[in-house]
Amino acid sequence: MPCASRSDELVFFVNGRKVSDGHSYRGLRSIRLTGTKYACGRGGCGACTMMVSKHDSVSKKIRHFSVTACLMPICSLYGAAVTTVEGVGSIKTRLHPVQERIAKSHGTQCGFCTPGMVMSMYTLLRNHPQPSEEQLMEALGGNLCRCTGYRPIFESGRTFCMEVNSCQQKGTGKCCLDWGENDSSPLGKKNEICTKLFAKEEFQPLDPTQELIFPPELLRMAENPEKQTLTFYGERVTWISPGTLKDLLELKAKHPEAPLVLGNTSLGPGMKSQGHFHPVLLSPARISELSMVRKTSDGLTIGAGCSLAQMQVILAERISELPEEKTQTYRALLKHLRSLAGQQIRNMASLGGHVMSRHCYSDLNPILAVGNSTLNLISAEGTRQIPLNEHFLAGLASADIEPEEILESVHIPHSRKVRIPLAQCQQNALPHVNAGMRVLFKGGTDSIEDLRIAYGGVGTATISAHRSCQQLLGKRWNELMLDEACRLLLDEVSLPGSAPGGQVEFKRTLLVSFLFKFYLEVLQELKKLVKLFSASGCSCDGCYSEISERFLSALEDFPVRIPQGVQTYQSVDPHQPLQDPVGRPIMHLSGLKHATGEAIFCDDIPMVDKELFMALVTSSRAHAKIISIDVSKALELPGVVDVITAEDIPGTNGTEDDKLLAVDEVVCVGQIICAVVAETDVQAKRATEKIKITYEDLKPVIFTIKDAIKHNSFLCPEKKLEQGNVEEAFEKVDQIVEEVHVGGQEHFYMETQRVLVIPKTEDKELDIYVSTQDPAHVQVSVLYFKHPHQQDHLSCKTSGWRFWREGRKASCIRGDCSCGTGHPIRLVLNREDDMLITGGRHPLFGKYKVGFMNNGRIKALDIKCFINGGCTLDDSELVTEFLILKLENAYKIRNLRFQGRACMTNLPSNTAFRGFGFPQGALVTESCITAVAAKCGLPPEKIREKNMYKTVDKTIYNQAFNPETLIRCWNECLDKSSFRSRRMHAEEFNKKNYWKKKGIAIIPMKFSVGFAATSYHQAAALVHIYTDGSVLVTHGGSELGQGIHTKMLQVASRELKIPMSYIHICETSTATVPNTIATAASIGADVNGRAVQNACQILLKRLEPIIKKRPEGTWENWIEAAFEQRISLSATGYFRGYKAFMDWEKGVGDPFPYYVYGAACSEVEIDCLTGAYKKIRTDIVMDACCSLNPAIDIGQIEGSFIQGMGLYTTEELKYSPEGVLYSRSPDEYKIPTITDVPEEFNVSLLPSSRTPLTIYSSKGLGESGMFLGSSVFFAIADAVATVRRERGIAEDFTVQSPATPEWVRMACADRFTEMIPRDDPKTFKPWSIPIA
Ligand SMILES: Cc1cc2nc3c(=O)[nH]c(=O)nc-3n(C[C@H](O)[C@H](O)[C@H](O)COP(=O)(O)OP(=O)(O)OC[C@H]3O[C@@H](n4cnc5c(N)ncnc54)[C@H](O)[C@@H]3O)c2cc1C
Ligand code: FES
Ligand code: FES
Repeated sequence: MPCASRSDELVFFVNGRKVSDGHSYRGLRSIRLTGTKYACGRGGCGACTMMVSKHDSVSKKIRHFSVTACLMPICSLYGAAVTTVEGVGSIKTRLHPVQERIAKSHGTQCGFCTPGMVMSMYTLLRNHPQPSEEQLMEALGGNLCRCTGYRPIFESGRTFCMEVNSCQQKGTGKCCLDWGENDSSPLGKKNEICTKLFAKEEFQPLDPTQELIFPPELLRMAENPEKQTLTFYGERVTWISPGTLKDLLELKAKHPEAPLVLGNTSLGPGMKSQGHFHPVLLSPARISELSMVRKTSDGLTIGAGCSLAQMQVILAERISELPEEKTQTYRALLKHLRSLAGQQIRNMASLGGHVMSRHCYSDLNPILAVGNSTLNLISAEGTRQIPLNEHFLAGLASADIEPEEILESVHIPHSRKVRIPLAQCQQNALPHVNAGMRVLFKGGTDSIEDLRIAYGGVGTATISAHRSCQQLLGKRWNELMLDEACRLLLDEVSLPGSAPGGQVEFKRTLLVSFLFKFYLEVLQELKKLVKLFSASGCSCDGCYSEISERFLSALEDFPVRIPQGVQTYQSVDPHQPLQDPVGRPIMHLSGLKHATGEAIFCDDIPMVDKELFMALVTSSRAHAKIISIDVSKALELPGVVDVITAEDIPGTNGTEDDKLLAVDEVVCVGQIICAVVAETDVQAKRATEKIKITYEDLKPVIFTIKDAIKHNSFLCPEKKLEQGNVEEAFEKVDQIVEEVHVGGQEHFYMETQRVLVIPKTEDKELDIYVSTQDPAHVQVSVLYFKHPHQQDHLSCKTSGWRFWREGRKASCIRGDCSCGTGHPIRLVLNREDDMLITGGRHPLFGKYKVGFMNNGRIKALDIKCFINGGCTLDDSELVTEFLILKLENAYKIRNLRFQGRACMTNLPSNTAFRGFGFPQGALVTESCITAVAAKCGLPPEKIREKNMYKTVDKTIYNQAFNPETLIRCWNECLDKSSFRSRRMHAEEFNKKNYWKKKGIAIIPMKFSVGFAATSYHQAAALVHIYTDGSVLVTHGGSELGQGIHTKMLQVASRELKIPMSYIHICETSTATVPNTIATAASIGADVNGRAVQNACQILLKRLEPIIKKRPEGTWENWIEAAFEQRISLSATGYFRGYKAFMDWEKGVGDPFPYYVYGAACSEVEIDCLTGAYKKIRTDIVMDACCSLNPAIDIGQIEGSFIQGMGLYTTEELKYSPEGVLYSRSPDEYKIPTITDVPEEFNVSLLPSSRTPLTIYSSKGLGESGMFLGSSVFFAIADAVATVRRERGIAEDFTVQSPATPEWVRMACADRFTEMIPRDDPKTFKPWSIPIA
């Protein structure tokens, strides 16, 4: 739509160059700045972090701050200088130390998060060239990484910190890094243990003088600011930025409905995902009055335009200036600000925007409300003050502001003596409950004069418990008052069973748990004031109850601690040539490209001629007949080229059970029905909303495993393994029958599904660029769906970790549409659609019956597992098989029966995911061990030891193996973690603390590597040597971040005996290496490594006569000679691997080439009142045999451990009773952040271990670490069991994963969980349903 008027010039700079045109975040992409990644679009992941520099009109200084580009309106950049990762440094010119260090410290795997990490660190260094470790932690708090486990990223940043706490070997008096430094060959002597993964002495120093300066033109503009109103017209929206407060107020009077945009962190997500539309936006960014801060005698007035980050600084300063009793409110606010969102959001979000948004989850509003804050409002009519109270927060007309008014500032009074505002927000899972509480006593007494309590996160707005507080006035601060207060609060702040957000009983419990914490805190304060009271003649001394020392633990928080750790591995043989990189911690091949943003991901491929965009239309019903699809309105929209439905597919529309596009019937919410093709992504997306689909609901609708069992709804036949005589064994022993529920897991790969398809009409060919780990499979699928006799060439771009999901469907549709339209087509799924459409890890419901002796020896075990497969088969049969094969984990139990079945439900089809069912299944086995321990009154580790494989033996499927390294891992882990002494310390701690408990657990692991099918154990590679001596390697494995390309170059370098710098890798493509097998099951490097080795050996054999003839010659000489002698310098390598088989009829086989063994010990501390926990320490010992690359392998272990920890503790999928996935963004689905890393995190690779089957005796470690994350789960369960034992409650509670704070809190039953009202499940419809 053409603009009615001409826009003013929008002036800003990007990477030192003036830009006066741009439209959005895609604007950056359109000027080829693709380093800024898109991963969530909601400010929640930090992948799009960039630095904005602005002249601050108040301080007259340049302010550098990190922001998330996805929420940054381009118009808000007027007068700003933007620095993206490309402006920081480049491989082609000069690398910035941040980029160099993150790459060389192995802080990147897939690299999709890396530019964002770089920008967060870079911005920190621009403000603090030598930051503290706490500042570094804070700076990285808003950046998610799904691959690395954060440790190496933090490690790279730590090299800039002033007080580098590099000594990772706590308590030894020595620094591990120093050992390396004193050793001329750190990877030196035989059997030497190394702890150094990078050489920091190689790093170039940080030189702040080298940074880009703030553009003089912008400085001039800032010093002589334009006062006139600037207007920028967009296609549908007008952005108005007045230069004076007067103009702003006039504009607000003229456009009362127009919102004020400050940080856009509240407006932005609403506009992006909830379809909110505002034709006019007012930006007060240039109004200095809104950024004023006034310190008055009774308080602090902070301008509404101040960012939350600025507010942190202001509060900290005021706290340092005033006596403690005056700053209680400020302290509470500051505490919450530290954990409110990530640094980028705090830099963008304003106080005004926060207060005026009145979010029910607001962390600040409850504190501001109980702190008696006032809002200073201003309009063209004048000014007025209103209290920030319950009327305002509830949006009541009695207190609401007029549409023409704006918030100028917030006045926060000092706290007064004996006023104690307290805030609680201990939740580390959404939706959180928070609270602000304040009490004032009658002079010199403990009698309540004034009481304020406000809660966030329990209703549609911040709720004030006004009535309860009134009824408590005059009461004395004692247990009687507490009991009455709890009763009153639960009555007043009532939460219906169907409340949005769910977790109703948990939230009710928190209401009173927080009150109890406040009660104790006030009691403590009162004690301190005893002397004061006594001096004033009051007889209060001793009139309130004593707090037992054991109860005081309720008051301590879990502050964020800086993670420490040591990583150990075996050095290479000292005789190994220096040129030979095998076994050395070589940097990820693409590390530097990731760090500079120069790595090309699928969506970074420049737009091609006539390119079109695609958006998908998905089902909103779980099971329904499609009556009609009306696309007419969509086709009328500008830019829309076509709408593709099932009828348009020329080939076959999938299989009968798994349609590419739905026909006649839909079987889950999120099923793809049709696709819109348009000229721009925005047009395509907009058109999807105009497609009208009429449904008729069908029955049955099945979501849960229990319902599927009831309806006999299964995807495939049962898989079963049996050994011994289970029934007979059960007759002679004690038994426990229990259930275990393991939730599913979203892949949450940082790079969402995206594909670019380019048709080459003249040859009827398609070039398909897709992020996949199974290119051949995608190729076959595309062929199947489109015209016969066409050729596809699949190129796998650098991929943001797939963890198995291959995005096959998306590629097929695109393949098909490209044929139809003849245009190249690009599809980039946004995070919400990606999470909605694709399935993930299967939720599992397990039932076990275990028979045991009272010494802990397990005699019989019968496990039945059901997985929720969703609506189509996908990989569910394979996952069931793996689940059953791996279920025994590390234990030898003579009488065993394992059964598994995949349920068919009306949910998106679940698929394989790192670990292939093992992480879910083995949790059932380990839960069973824990239950036996509890029944026998023995520690779980004793039961584990007693039942573990000890000598050469056979598995349940009759495959022989030697568990020697399993035992070694277990013993080393016990030893390295000082398990026994720490268990004793934990017990001591638990005796002394009632409300906090420690738990510790050690878990063994036997993980089978590979597929139970021979055809998967093969690979091919293509190696070319060019006449200049350079070598090009292509193999069939996909680089997903796991470092396969790096390892392949290490192999080629060893085989050809040339430095790695001679060798290059070509991206995986079906045009060069056909019929590849999926890069999965941890065998990618094993099989492809052998193929590369084979190709190199063939080439070397051909060169042998030449080398023999001239041994003193150089590589280049030999290659030249070979060329002249017409010797082929190109070879295909092939590896025919392990002959795997599994006879399911007989239940026997040799399905796996080898096992990876490991053990992990974790210790946690839980807060029984809130359910929060902190991870104190984790020690992992893993048997990698002779690691090809210890840095990469340790990275895999750490990354998968943290991912596993997420599976078992925080990652919770929430479905509505209608089968709609609620958890579709990082705010709703919590993957671990940097603050979740255990405070001490040690990983060591077991030395002196060998395996004959694999390349150079290495082992594949891609998946196994995932299960070790369960050690955190069992440590939490251990702490919970201690609580229950102490309180005399049954210890054998139902095991449920993830162990969220909700689960922990409700399992730690106490007087508060007992006093909450419980709803009869028949009387309400819950907000969400459990599907496991
Ligand atoms: C990823 C993410 C994580 C978050 N995490 C948390 C969290 O942990 N805890 C928490 O409490 N919050 C959290 N938030 C919410 C965040 O605090 C708010 O979005 C933010 O404070 C809003 O400020 P803003 O400047 O961005 O508002 P904007 O989006 O710019 O504006 C929001 C609204 O306020 C109005 N407004 C703004 N200023 C004024 C004014 N001066 N006068 C009148 N009206 C005005 C606007 O008209 C608009 O309607 C999170 C947000 C994001 C995106
Ligand atoms: S924060 Fe911008 S893409 Fe996630
Ligand atoms: S390296 Fe961080 S998301 Fe992949």
